[in-house]
Amino acid sequence: MRSAPIEGPVLGLEASCDETAAALLAPDGTILAEAVRSQLAEHTPFGGVVPEIAARAHLAHLPRLAAQVMAEAGVRPEQLGGIAATAGPGLIGGLIVGASFGKGMAIAHGLPFVAVNHLEGHALTARLPALRATLNESGLVEGEVRFPYLLLLLSGGHCQCVAVEGLGRYRRLGSTLDDAVGEAFDKSAKLMGLPWPGGPALEKLAQAGNPRRYPLPRPLFGRPGCDFSFSGLKTAVAQAVPKLATEQDRADLAAAFQHAVAAVLADRARNALALLPGATALVVAGGVAANQGVRAALAAEAARAALPLIAPPIRLCTDNAVMIAWAGIERLRAGLTDPLDHAPRPRWPLDELRAEATA
Ligand code: KG4
Ligand code: ZN
Repeated sequence: MRSAPIEGPVLGLEASCDETAAALLAPDGTILAEAVRSQLAEHTPFGGVVPEIAARAHLAHLPRLAAQVMAEAGVRPEQLGGIAATAGPGLIGGLIVGASFGKGMAIAHGLPFVAVNHLEGHALTARLPALRATLNESGLVEGEVRFPYLLLLLSGGHCQCVAVEGLGRYRRLGSTLDDAVGEAFDKSAKLMGLPWPGGPALEKLAQAGNPRRYPLPRPLFGRPGCDFSFSGLKTAVAQAVPKLATEQDRADLAAAFQHAVAAVLADRARNALALLPGATALVVAGGVAANQGVRAALAAEAARAALPLIAPPIRLCTDNAVMIAWAGIERLRAGLTDPLDHAPRPRWPLDELRAEATA
């Protein structure tokens, strides 16, 4: 891929699910300003994300957030070097809002436009220069994270093991056969009477629990391959819930659930690392990467393979626009831009970027 200079800061826009976000990054990847507005309050009464409500909230807040980060950094639109907007995968209403807003700015100010795959955003976050200092401080990594590395993408909508071999070059080694891991947390938490989104609430409850009291299944543990399955675990939780009597029982079940999930994720990561012998790191992203039990299990697995575990700070693990601007910068540097008639894609598997990158 040829390299191309970037003329100014890059504005990143994210509106693919239930976070509206804007961020401004300097061409070298320095974060100049960032803003995220969660739609938790709008969706909580419904116990999940309502697509139409999400799209309207993105429409109401994205222009304001974009103006806010520009003002904070003191950057005028004509000084920008490009616009990067999430164009998929995700909820189509929000994708249209974010991508159209980005294209509008690109047209108005004659800027290059990058249609970013949201999953690529998560995949490349580990390479953000802003993370280097933190990672070095903790003695984990020297300099930038080099390709190839193994990404475990663990969110409410996605659950995949991905070999990240280069910009636009992703090989999915495994994915979930049923629920995404965050979905499993949310559904099990709901069964236990915890509020949505269930992951953080379940983790809090698990802190006081004994993970060994309830023997829960560990689907696919010890089996070949890198796929995941969580529906059996969820069913086991559903069967245990009616027998719970005390708060300690609930804490023990939460701890057992979290322990089983962490063990399965570590097992799958082990198989995936065996398929990627040149890996420089194990990288974890997505909301579930916020879970300390999961992080600890994956850190142990990475250590077994003598690799660093790269777990970005939580605000960069969950949905944000810094990762979108950064993916935009990596693409602009490589001379990759998208036409203004690029159509947002609700389904857009990472593997499909490979063909585009080499085209
Ligand atoms: O990446 P994310 O913010 O949004 C997408 O799904 O794209 O992930 C949200 C998911 C939810 O399922 C939430 O319950 C889960 O991440 N989550 C957690 C924790 N924090 C968020 N799961 C387990 N433990 C946590 N601390
Ligand atoms: Zn995400």
